[in-house]
Amino acid sequence: MSNMLRARRRLDLLQVVLFAAVLLVVVADAGVTSQYRRKLEATVEMPLDADVFRVPPGYNAPQQVHITLGDQEGTAMIVSWVTANELGSSTVMYSEASPDPEKMELRAEGTHTRYDYFNYTSGFIHHCTLTNLKHSTKYYYAMGFGHTVRSFCFTTPPMPGPDVPFKFGLIGDLGQTFDSNTTLSHYEANGGDAVLYVGDLSYADNHPLHDNTRWDSWARFVERSAAHQPWVWTAGNHELDLAPELGENVPFKPFAHRYPTPFWYSVRVASAHVVVLASYSAYGKYTAQWEWLRAELARVDRAATPWLIVLVHSPWYSSNGYHYMEGETMRVQFERWIVAAKADLVVAGHVHAYERSHRVSNVAYDIINARCTPVRTRDAPVYVTVGDGGNIEGIADNFTQPQPSYSAFREASFGHATLEIRNRTHAYYAWHRNQDGAKVVADGVWLTNRYWMPTDDDIN
Ligand SMILES: *[C@@H]1O[C@H](CO)[C@@H](O)[C@H](O)[C@H]1NC(C)=O
Ligand SMILES: *[C@@H]1O[C@H](CO)[C@@H](O)[C@H](O)[C@H]1NC(C)=O
Ligand SMILES: *[C@@H]1O[C@H](CO)[C@@H](O)[C@H](O)[C@H]1NC(C)=O
Ligand SMILES: *[C@@H]1O[C@H](CO)[C@@H](O)[C@H](O)[C@H]1NC(C)=O
Repeated sequence: MSNMLRARRRLDLLQVVLFAAVLLVVVADAGVTSQYRRKLEATVEMPLDADVFRVPPGYNAPQQVHITLGDQEGTAMIVSWVTANELGSSTVMYSEASPDPEKMELRAEGTHTRYDYFNYTSGFIHHCTLTNLKHSTKYYYAMGFGHTVRSFCFTTPPMPGPDVPFKFGLIGDLGQTFDSNTTLSHYEANGGDAVLYVGDLSYADNHPLHDNTRWDSWARFVERSAAHQPWVWTAGNHELDLAPELGENVPFKPFAHRYPTPFWYSVRVASAHVVVLASYSAYGKYTAQWEWLRAELARVDRAATPWLIVLVHSPWYSSNGYHYMEGETMRVQFERWIVAAKADLVVAGHVHAYERSHRVSNVAYDIINARCTPVRTRDAPVYVTVGDGGNIEGIADNFTQPQPSYSAFREASFGHATLEIRNRTHAYYAWHRNQDGAKVVADGVWLTNRYWMPTDDDIN
């Protein structure tokens, strides 16, 4: 080895040592990678004869009942269900006054659809929109007239307004394992008013031939919550159900027949404006989703609905090795707008672990200026990944090392989060891991509103 080379080596070594020192400082300054060890058994799907999948008794009994918001203001609700034996009635009767289906005085006519998927034929899928509902009002409703009648109830969301409190559940990638059941049970125990669901519902596509009976069993599983409060749906990659080898070339076929919301849309609930984006629909410049989001952000009125929440399936800020950087192209396309709009929270799924970011943005880069590192930004949203619902694919326990400085807290456990909006300035965000009692908060922060009180709420 020449002297020169030897000198080079020493320099390299010095650089390594220096680099390690810098690294140590960075690590000390960075967030928490929770060392909590989840149970190590594999996730196991609940068997088809499990109690949660029970078909309701009675000929042609409505099953898989779920509701979602039917307009932007909380005065309409879409009721969906499936009948298995024959078409039956698409009528919903409803009432403020009477839980007795015979005495419900309001009536709405729905429509029905069905689809084939390889050698599976769905039941009759009914969708019926109840309109002109009053805010903050409990309604009883029933369907299945002519055969087996079932009845449920829901409470409409309050009239949108700046200080209207509301509690959302944040759930993603739920699937239908025993862990999924724990996640849903804990959410129910924590008592939210509506679920913001960030995609990947049944995981039917993980079964041979995309066994669509798993779409049916999933909807029976979540009925106990989704029939009584609106779930706001986001489309994930497991909704694609593309299988050219089975002759199935239409994306989102089962999902689109069963869940009646658009792929990108918005709802206003209490003091929140919720924007739902579609990670697997085109979002490049000039596409329909791009045009829509630009116009939609201009429509957001923070005086009326102070909290701006964005739902997306594939996260823009995730430091997990699984699905690493899959959300990057959408981040590049939309982050600038979301920061300019001073969004409060961006909720994603897809990665089967939990993570919360600091308020960061990465919008300074312009391809020649080299400013491509996320920086703390007061106007920026907090990003959370809650793809930890507990599905059959198991936990994503492969975080990148070291933890990047934008990441505040990350843990490879199943769970769900809640967002409790108190008024125009304060909301309490909490993540609950499944190994704890439902009420235990494993990661909780007070968020202050980016429009009304953009303080540094970002210390933890
Ligand atoms: C569909 O085909 C598979 C594989 O041949 C078979 O196991 C299953 O029973 C069939 N399902 C129906 C509904 O015919
Ligand atoms: C699912 O959870 C519910 C409520 O906690 C419980 O009653 C039910 O037995 C559970 N089912 C399974 C299969 O674990
Ligand atoms: C873990 O993540 C890294 C990227 O950080 C990736 O290169 C590696 O393949 C991942 N390992 C597994 C088992 O997925
Ligand atoms: C908003 O809620 C927070 C948290 O409960 C509370 O501390 C604050 O005083 C409230 N603001 C107003 C104006 O009531």
